[in-house]
Amino acid sequence: MNHEQNMRAANFISEKCFETPKIGLILGSGLGVLADDIQNAVKISYSDIPGFPESTVEGHAGQLVLGKLNGVMVAAMQGRFHFYEGYTMDKVTFPVRVMKELGIETLIVTNAAGGINESFEPGDLMLISDHINNTGTNPLIGLNDDNLGVRFPDLSEAYSKRLRLLAKNTAGRIGLSVKEGVYVANTGPSYETPAEIRMLRVMGGDAVGMSTVPEVIVAKHANLEVLGISCISNMAAGILDQPLSHDEVIETTEKVKNSFLQYVKELVVEIHSTTKQ
Ligand code: HPA
Repeated sequence: MNHEQNMRAANFISEKCFETPKIGLILGSGLGVLADDIQNAVKISYSDIPGFPESTVEGHAGQLVLGKLNGVMVAAMQGRFHFYEGYTMDKVTFPVRVMKELGIETLIVTNAAGGINESFEPGDLMLISDHINNTGTNPLIGLNDDNLGVRFPDLSEAYSKRLRLLAKNTAGRIGLSVKEGVYVANTGPSYETPAEIRMLRVMGGDAVGMSTVPEVIVAKHANLEVLGISCISNMAAGILDQPLSHDEVIETTEKVKNSFLQYVKELVVEIHSTTKQ
């Protein structure tokens, strides 16, 4: 996708929504309900936005929801595109380009992830301190458009230290305990084997999932400040003596939904009040 395509999608969206979103939100599996709390919401189905991929996700098709979350203007993706669904990395990350074009300065990415770190428990929230791209590819492969970002983006602080500190303080203030750790992205869609989980642990991973890393790489290319939050929906393969299932993932996210909701609502206010206008 090129700059023109990003602008075309962004213009289409701006015409329906007159205030500029400050914060972009990508809502992971089971966490999309957050978008239901957005006031004066303008909801745009992905299938209507020029350049957005055709959605193959089962259940309800994804949508972009713009409006005020706790008084802060946000653009929220209710549902994301995954590489394992067959989308190219370009398509998976296109919405990030479009949200940047719309005017966001900060991106909050969320996901459901398997816990590799044995001190974690299902239901924990983990602030992502760093990531390991284990997908075997990179969304920036190809010609670089210098209008969008530099050829070789620095990822030494992909997940903003400032925002992590703010998120820790906010968690403390509302009495929520949060973990912190390294997120590993695999392509999926199969879950990992126990041997793979042992490998990922040795590599330095604390949680594993099938998303987020492509979007964050593109967000950093686009010079956005990023905060990542994983909901540990299950312990990764081989840790407990039980099989993994998507049902378990959804069940856990359902349980933490309310505290997660409250947390993100507090976070957007804190972030908004500390981001340069
Ligand atoms: N592995 C990979 N992706 C996931 C998991 C997991 O255990 N849980 C939720 N997403």
